[in-house]
Amino acid sequence: MNELDSLIEQARASFAKAQTPADLENAKALYLGKSGRITELMKGMAALSVEEKKRLGAAVNVAKQAIEAALNAQRQALADAELALQLKAEALDVSLPGRALSQGGLHPVSLTLERIEEIFGSMGFEVAQGPEIETDWFNFTALNTPQDHPARSMHDTFYVEGGHLLRTHTSPMQIRHAVQHVKRHRASLDAGLGMPEIRVIAPGRTYRVDSDATHSPMFHQCEGLWIGQNVSFKDLKVVFTDFCRSFFESEDLVLRFRPSFFPFTEPSAEIDIQFQTGPLAGRWLEVAGAGQVHPNVVRNMGLDPEHSIGFAFGMGPDRLTMLRYGVNDLRLFFDGDIRFLSQFQ
Ligand code: PHE
Repeated sequence: MNELDSLIEQARASFAKAQTPADLENAKALYLGKSGRITELMKGMAALSVEEKKRLGAAVNVAKQAIEAALNAQRQALADAELALQLKAEALDVSLPGRALSQGGLHPVSLTLERIEEIFGSMGFEVAQGPEIETDWFNFTALNTPQDHPARSMHDTFYVEGGHLLRTHTSPMQIRHAVQHVKRHRASLDAGLGMPEIRVIAPGRTYRVDSDATHSPMFHQCEGLWIGQNVSFKDLKVVFTDFCRSFFESEDLVLRFRPSFFPFTEPSAEIDIQFQTGPLAGRWLEVAGAGQVHPNVVRNMGLDPEHSIGFAFGMGPDRLTMLRYGVNDLRLFFDGDIRFLSQFQ
């Protein structure tokens, strides 16, 4: 084997040994680099005769091309191997089952609120909403509960800067809504034409410093207010009885109006219900406070208690939800556990 052939063989062998592109470029330098073997051979031909140059030059060229071909082949082989590795690493198993998108739904208390709005809507009540951060005036004073009234101690709550507080009940909405209603009908009232009745419910979040299985520091209430020229306690009994029977889909549900006290109603009552069938049958269950709106409260609505009377109630949608679904711990509703919440869909 002549010298050039063995040079080609050596080059092929060292290229084949290269495992990385860097190894390969180093090996290339030995043959084709500035002081590589082929380059040295070409330089060495300067001293030869023209004839010799022609003959040897052609042979060196053939060898150079063979070495370059081996180099390119190995470059390609390394690139192919690299690509194969990458493809393997990034492989997707398209036969795996997809991830299901879970379906959302309404919170059980939201379902109750929707139900309350629907039933009272069918009785001609509109729905009003108001702020959860209240002033002392709307939460207490306008509701006939002055600064030193003992009823305030039952409403311990969270105070925020500037004397505002987190509302302890939805009753401030009685005043807020009635004042708006009176304002809207000012012209008609001034012309002695009176105004349409106030018939509204106001559901929303309320706050007290309370926390156990049946009390949460945040809970829901739904206020109801019906003011007209001759709206009596009898109307309260009819409306609330109808509501409870529709809500629980139970025609034989019995209601009890137990005398009670609220500064903003007179007379006042706690409303209890009793199921005649089912797991809760026979027990009295408290669901609301209610009463005829106190004359001082009617005045704070901007109305004359000689001409405008009616009733108000405040019920607990959380409690209604617990009774409807047979849940005995209120906290479950606010823990946000999907396993619990998804059962109501
Ligand atoms: N606001 C009262 C409470 O939170 C409930 C109530 C509302 C009572 C309206 C009478 C009239 O306990």
